[in-house]
Amino acid sequence: MPFHGITVIGAGMIGAAHAAAYRQFAHRFGPTGNLHTVCDMNPDAARRLAADWGFAQTETDWRAVIANPEIEVVSVCLPNFLHTEVTLAALAAGKHVLCEKPLALDAASARSVAEVARKARSVSGTVFNYRRIPAIAAIKARIEAGDLGKPVQILVQFQCDYAADPLLPHSWRYELAKAGPGALLDVGTHAVDTMRFLFGDVAEVIGAISTISITERRLPLGATTGHGHVALSDKTAVVDNDDVMSALLRFTNGAQGYLSASRVAVGSGNRLTVEVMGTEGTARFTTEMPSFYEIALRSPDGSTGFTRVMNSPAAPDIGALGTVPHDAVSIGYAEWFGFMLHEFLTCCAEGRPFKNGSIQDGYEAVMILDEIQRASKRDR
Ligand SMILES: NC(=O)c1ccc[n+]([C@@H]2O[C@H](COP(=O)([O-])OP(=O)(O)OC[C@H]3O[C@@H](n4cnc5c(N)ncnc54)[C@H](O)[C@@H]3O)[C@@H](O)[C@H]2O)c1
Repeated sequence: MPFHGITVIGAGMIGAAHAAAYRQFAHRFGPTGNLHTVCDMNPDAARRLAADWGFAQTETDWRAVIANPEIEVVSVCLPNFLHTEVTLAALAAGKHVLCEKPLALDAASARSVAEVARKARSVSGTVFNYRRIPAIAAIKARIEAGDLGKPVQILVQFQCDYAADPLLPHSWRYELAKAGPGALLDVGTHAVDTMRFLFGDVAEVIGAISTISITERRLPLGATTGHGHVALSDKTAVVDNDDVMSALLRFTNGAQGYLSASRVAVGSGNRLTVEVMGTEGTARFTTEMPSFYEIALRSPDGSTGFTRVMNSPAAPDIGALGTVPHDAVSIGYAEWFGFMLHEFLTCCAEGRPFKNGSIQDGYEAVMILDEIQRASKRDR
């Protein structure tokens, strides 16, 4: 099933990751996978991204992209509050759609997208790029092989510091109406999905706590992109979504989980840390050291300690898709983002569902995020 006209809608921080990954892999699908358009309401941002990654055209109106029959593959990289509307419009027009996380601001909206996606003939998915980290996929394989025994506990922390500077401008990210919950919906989405990926369904949110540590920010004088500094006005606006969220969960497999999401954890950068404990062993990983995971298995003689397992061409995705697929050569964010996009394009080309980060996965994650948000209000 050939496809034509790849388009990135939203030329901000993550639009660049999509554009770069399409650039890397689209040609493997033949002349059909052409880099068609970058769309952004800010024409300069669209032009810059199109020039950087070789997209042919730019556009400022996402509705024109949806109406264009030459465009068949769409990445939705817009602010959170636009995801539902644009994804539904793209699906209605028969496009293949990869929507950035979170799929929607709340579970009801996410369900509406999931229902439409289920009936659609086109391919769709939610961006859960952290599933594609080879070490995380390898840990999942160890869990499924029973190496860690019965699941007991999972700790997932997504600690960032992109909002730690109070002089960063106010933007859509700091408004509940536009972004939804703050750190929770932004990076907690990845934490929830990683937990579901490794331990399965969540049975119950036991409790949660949320904090806003920087309660107002100055308005920008011009356009904002990502987490960059811009000139600030003297006017301020209230921050009404969480800077930090922590939650306690119980899984249907009986295990317990602890999730922490922060955007103000000074020094953390953009760090996902995962630790899974079973009756027979523990595995752990951090994005700060993406070349390996560590595993400790209970031994009959009582010895303890972790063994480091380096990435290798045998690790998921590296052998087939890695740029330098050789033992212990390090890989990073752009590469595992590319692994995800490659699979999405493969599904578009073969006309089969994109299962590893489906729209349904996006919906399930938003349901849990809703529960966590409710618990944080109840437990305040
Ligand atoms: N998967 C990940 O790891 C990851 C990482 C970062 C961001 N994200 C997600 O990606 C999305 C975008 O985040 P970002 O950091 O790139 O934001 P950003 O603010 O850097 O970029 C958003 C872009 O959308 C444009 N835009 C806004 N409204 C528009 C409209 N109506 N029509 C056309 N263009 C419009 C803005 O001009 C801006 O260039 C968010 O939903 C975020 O949660 C995902």
